[in-house]
Amino acid sequence: MKIPSLGNLSRNSKISILSGAGMSAESGISTFRDNGGLWEQYDIYQVATPEAWRADPQLVLRFYNERRKQLLNARPNAAHYALSQLEQHFPHTHIITQNIDDLHERAGSRQVLHLHGELRKSRSCADENLVYDIEGDSIAWGEKCEKGSQLRPHVVWFGEAVPMIEKAAEIIAQSDLLLVIGTSLNVYPAAGLLHHLPPGREIICIDPAELDLSAFPHSIHWRMKAGEGVKLLVEKMLQSAT
Ligand code: OAD
Repeated sequence: MKIPSLGNLSRNSKISILSGAGMSAESGISTFRDNGGLWEQYDIYQVATPEAWRADPQLVLRFYNERRKQLLNARPNAAHYALSQLEQHFPHTHIITQNIDDLHERAGSRQVLHLHGELRKSRSCADENLVYDIEGDSIAWGEKCEKGSQLRPHVVWFGEAVPMIEKAAEIIAQSDLLLVIGTSLNVYPAAGLLHHLPPGREIICIDPAELDLSAFPHSIHWRMKAGEGVKLLVEKMLQSAT
C-alpha cells in the first residue's frame, strides 16, 4: 500500500476529492448502479430527466421527496468525518461531490462543490437563479417561487447542463493529489474530471468494485469501503505531513 505522493505532502498541498454515491452508502443512502441500487428500482427516464418533469412532475417530486426524507434520517459516516479532518490539516482541500446529499457539510467540510445539485434546495422553473432552502422535507405540487412558477428540485437531471463542471475542472487542474471515492465513473462529464489532473500527479481511488483506471498510470486503487479506506488513508496523510 505504498503511496509515492504522500512523501511530498505539506500543509500547502492542494488536495481534491471526487466523491460519489459510495461515499454515503454506509450512511444508509442507496447508490445508483450497485445491485439493488436506485436505478434498478426506478426508471431514470421517468424520474430524473426534463422529459420526466414535463410528463409527470408530481411523480418526480415524490421521488425526490422520498430521497430527502431518507437523507434527513441519515448521518455522516466515518469517511465524511475523516475528510473533514483532512481539510483541517490541509486548508487547500476541496471536495467535488456528485452527491446531492449534504453529509459532507454535516460532517464539517467547508469547501464542497456539488456537481449534481443539492437535495435540500429547490429552485424556480422560470429562473434558475432563484434557489431556496427547503424548510421541512418536501416540495409540494403547487408550491411556487416569488415569480409565480412551480418549484422543482435543485438537481441536475440527465440531459441537462452541469453548470459547476468548469469550476470543478479548474480545482482539479491545480491539484497535487486527487482522491476518488465511491464512484463507478460511469457518468459524464463528472468522470472526465480525472483527465484535468496535471500529468504525473497521483490519483488514489477507494471503491470496493473493479474500476477501469488504465488511462491513469499514476493511480492506486484500494478496493475497500469508504468508511474503512478513507479513514486509513487520511491517517496516513496526516502522519506523512507532520
Ligand atoms: P454509482 O451508483 O454509479 O456508483 C457507486 C459506486 O460506489 C460503485 O463504484 C460502488 O462500487 C461504490 N460503493 C458502494 N458501496 C461503497 C462503499 N461502502 N464505499 C465506497 N464505495 C462504495 O454512483 P455514482 O458514481 O455516484 O447522477 O453515480 C454518478 C451519478 O449517477 C450520480 O451523481 C447520479 C447518478 O445517476 C444524477 O442523478 C445526475
